[in-house]
Amino acid sequence: MPKIIVAIDGYSSCGKSTTAKLVARQLNYPYIDTGAMYRAVTLFFVQNHITLTNPREVDQALSQVQITFRRQGELGRNDTYLNGLNVEDEIRKMYVSEKVSEVSAIASVRHELVAQQQRMGRSKGIVMDGRDIGTVVFPQAELKIFMTADPIIRAQRRQTELLAKGELIGLQEIADNLRMRDHIDTTRAESPLRQASDAVFIDNSLMTLDEQVELVVRLADEQIGLSLRKRETGLL
Ligand code: DC
Repeated sequence: MPKIIVAIDGYSSCGKSTTAKLVARQLNYPYIDTGAMYRAVTLFFVQNHITLTNPREVDQALSQVQITFRRQGELGRNDTYLNGLNVEDEIRKMYVSEKVSEVSAIASVRHELVAQQQRMGRSKGIVMDGRDIGTVVFPQAELKIFMTADPIIRAQRRQTELLAKGELIGLQEIADNLRMRDHIDTTRAESPLRQASDAVFIDNSLMTLDEQVELVVRLADEQIGLSLRKRETGLL
């Protein structure tokens, strides 16, 4: 079967990662959470007190960052490692969320992470989610999804997620953080969040997780079929 790239972009906390993870499992493709990569860089910068406005300091710090993903036994979790340490839980904390948009707006940070992401998808057969996957990382991706949901629903989902990890944060604080991140993510000069012209738009406010996964897998299967026909007719 030909392999395709599934690029899922959209706003913070709209269920992209949960959907992408399950889609990847059904397609038997690896899943890459690019938000986790920006979060891991942010954690490193915070821990090492990097001055974000000092390009030399930023570049030097970037050269010391190594991000990998490792599957955790039967749990099916694909955890993020920063320089060999499991930081999956730490990078989801509020103090990282508060800084991550600022860090991910830095051009050199984006250039480095985009290059790494492109290497990960070189041989296709991958599901990647983020903000610029269909527009910058893989503009040639066979399937592009642009996902969103009602801001209140997104804040509630985020609150439940944080609560499950023992962080009790008020809805207002979460909604404010999401609004701030939406603003920075969509207005930054360097690869802002926007829908690719050929992306499928999905508002999942009123959809169940199963419905979302089923829809994306169906669209992926269509693209795999299309690639197969192209290959058979010599167009690929
Ligand atoms: O998906 P997330 O909320 O974990 O992402 C964290 C932040 O990283 C988000 O506020 C914007 C940034 N990000 C980005 O700029 N580009 C990506 N491809 C993925 C995430």
